[in-house]
Amino acid sequence: MVKVLVLHGPNLNLLGRREPAVYGSTTLAEIDRSLVALGAELNIDVECAQSNHEGVLVDRIHEAMDRFAGLIINPGAFTHYSIALRDAVAAVGIPTIEVHLSNVHAREEFRRHSVVAPVAVGQIAGLGALGYALALRALAERLNG
Ligand code: DQA
Repeated sequence: MVKVLVLHGPNLNLLGRREPAVYGSTTLAEIDRSLVALGAELNIDVECAQSNHEGVLVDRIHEAMDRFAGLIINPGAFTHYSIALRDAVAAVGIPTIEVHLSNVHAREEFRRHSVVAPVAVGQIAGLGALGYALALRALAERLNG
């Protein structure tokens, strides 16, 4: 079965309690469970991981190289400045979709720029937890045809 890795960056472990007016009340565990369930429907094996550490995320992306056919990543604040994450995504060459719960383009100026987006297949922002599900559907189309 095709495998997709879902990676969540810093502070996303606090979802549900973190600024719910911005990020919603759904917890990360709920998002991950629903993605695994959707994956089963789409014939995709979904694995999810979260880290607050840039190097750990880089390591996870490297490890994904030979194991996963697709990557969904919400790099959190690293989106806006981590060239290391961008380079990791570019290096492994796995089709990647960048997801943001909030509409980063309608918030502070510094959130409007993503260093990861240019090496991703696409970006989904502002649709809350639904964005992850849409990203998984897009990868399913691409990978399973
Ligand atoms: C975020 C947006 C980022 O700007 C922020 O640093 C996050 C979450 C989002 O999902 O909306 O941590 O990636």
